[in-house]
Amino acid sequence: MVPVLKTPRFILRQPTIGDADPIARFLNDFEVAGNLARVPFPYHLSDARAWLATRKASLPAAETNFAIDLPGEGFAGQVGFHQGPHGVIIGYWLGRPFWGRGIMTEAATASLDWFFDTTGAREVISGVFHFNAASLAVQRKLGFTETGRSSLLCLARGIQVEHIDTVLARSVWKAGRLARG
Ligand SMILES: CC(C)(COP(=O)(O)OP(=O)(O)OC[C@H]1O[C@@H](n2cnc3c(N)ncnc32)[C@H](O)[C@@H]1OP(=O)(O)O)[C@@H](O)C(=O)NCCC(=O)NCCS
Repeated sequence: MVPVLKTPRFILRQPTIGDADPIARFLNDFEVAGNLARVPFPYHLSDARAWLATRKASLPAAETNFAIDLPGEGFAGQVGFHQGPHGVIIGYWLGRPFWGRGIMTEAATASLDWFFDTTGAREVISGVFHFNAASLAVQRKLGFTETGRSSLLCLARGIQVEHIDTVLARSVWKAGRLARG
């Protein structure tokens, strides 16, 4: 069961089939898809529907996605977790109209609070393509630190791209949470 998480400005909730239109609209934007590893480009409504069909409410915490839902504005993007070969990965994106308002920092903070509270995970891993300064800034604010560089396939670009690998340890998150109050 995916809970509803309330942040100061919006909610995070289970994605539903009603999100297919905005997902397709926002991801069919190379400025979004080109920063993500696993999103094809162009991105079609059928891609959104197929992805939503996999988002069962009964998935484990490490496979949970949240829709970011703003009052009066609706679906803005998503943040979620998936199991990678080296641990649980957090990934996220926002439709372009929603960039630059601190939304992802707020959404990822709530998601990470939930994830560390719900699981015994010692860390969450993530990273950014080397050119993604905004996402790296978000991760630094959250407490992620760089662990190295790798090469990751970007589906939208159809090439391997240099990737800055990052990690957030539970202990670092806990300390940051105490500081946030
Ligand atoms: C990356 C993304 C999620 C950021 O969302 P957002 O809500 O705009 O992020 P926030 O407003 O919470 O924080 C952005 C931070 O990056 C900073 N930033 C933005 N553009 C930047 C740039 N070009 N260089 C350096 N820092 C930048 C902002 O100043 C802000 O930091 P601050 O609060 O210290 O000022 C959004 O741009 C997006 O969805 N991009 C496309 C998909 C993507 O990149 N997903 C992540 C893949 S790893």
